[in-house]
Amino acid sequence: MPVIELSHISKRFGKFVAVNDVSFTVEKGEFFGFIGPNGAGKSTTMNMMLNFIKSSGGKIKLLGKNVPEHDLDVKKQIGYVPSDVRFYPQLRVRDLFRYTLDFHHMEGDPAELKRYCDLFQIDPQKKFGDLSLGNKKKVALVCALIHHPELIIMDEPTNGLDPLIHARLFRVLKEKQEQGVTIFLSSHNLKEVEDYCSRIAFIRSGKLIGVEDLTQVNQNVKVITVKADQLPIAVMEKIGATCVKKTDHEARFTYEGNMAQLFSTLSNLSPQLDDVTVANRDLEEQFMAMYERQEGERL
Ligand SMILES: Nc1ncnc2c1ncn2[C@@H]1O[C@H](COP(=O)(O)OP(=O)(O)OP(=O)(O)O)[C@@H](O)[C@H]1O
Ligand SMILES: [Mg+2]
Repeated sequence: MPVIELSHISKRFGKFVAVNDVSFTVEKGEFFGFIGPNGAGKSTTMNMMLNFIKSSGGKIKLLGKNVPEHDLDVKKQIGYVPSDVRFYPQLRVRDLFRYTLDFHHMEGDPAELKRYCDLFQIDPQKKFGDLSLGNKKKVALVCALIHHPELIIMDEPTNGLDPLIHARLFRVLKEKQEQGVTIFLSSHNLKEVEDYCSRIAFIRSGKLIGVEDLTQVNQNVKVITVKADQLPIAVMEKIGATCVKKTDHEARFTYEGNMAQLFSTLSNLSPQLDDVTVANRDLEEQFMAMYERQEGERL
């Protein structure tokens, strides 16, 4: 049974369509990434999943239950980190943890709470309003973890985190995933998405452009970078390479063809080249190509 099921969901703000007929599913235990440019509709989609805003159409099921009908029931099994963390500024961090546990009718384990505070370097005595951006984010992360949710939904959770805490957070998330928890992560950090997510959904202008299995990506695409005074664009295009970037003395191509043909062409060109590298295309590069592509194009 999928843990997240979105069927044809849409959201209109007046005449503006922020989310347009989006459908995808996420299975139990997946580490699922949700990416796309600013304003693509990620937070709006997540806000509908959490029933913070009503959808204009379509169906949402979380943990097998319809939202919004079973909203509260579902929320009790979810850990959520908003992109913009807001709690009452006068509340102390320890009280926020207490209220979170109370909402979930849980006693909480003081040792576990202490472990999280140590791990994320949080001072529970401080007032929330006195914390820095990153420290506020860390408090929200602990609030999303302490009640042992089945599903963790995070909207740009790493925005503002220092590298040490970033690494620790992903260690915790990976452990949770290994225990069967489903993780839904929206992020602009393509490296973390590449490192941790097994599948990603890419959204742009409210439309789902595609869902990609990162364990099945095409490793046959090579990236060739050449440096020369006279860039061999025509020769490279003749063997099927595509020029993806060009400056005065450097050009970058992607190539999926026969490697013998590539090396023979590069060898013939070598007297006129200052430098050449051939590498596997990494996912970050692939994602960037998705960001750069024009509206309406598919993955
Ligand atoms: N309450 C609202 N009223 C009108 N328009 C809205 C509202 N909330 C969001 N939008 C618009 O919907 C679009 C999608 O916004 P959303 O916040 O979902 O984008 P996002 O993908 O989360 O972007 P980012 O990466 O910047 O967080 C944007 O154009 C935004 O201006
Ligand atoms: Mg957002």
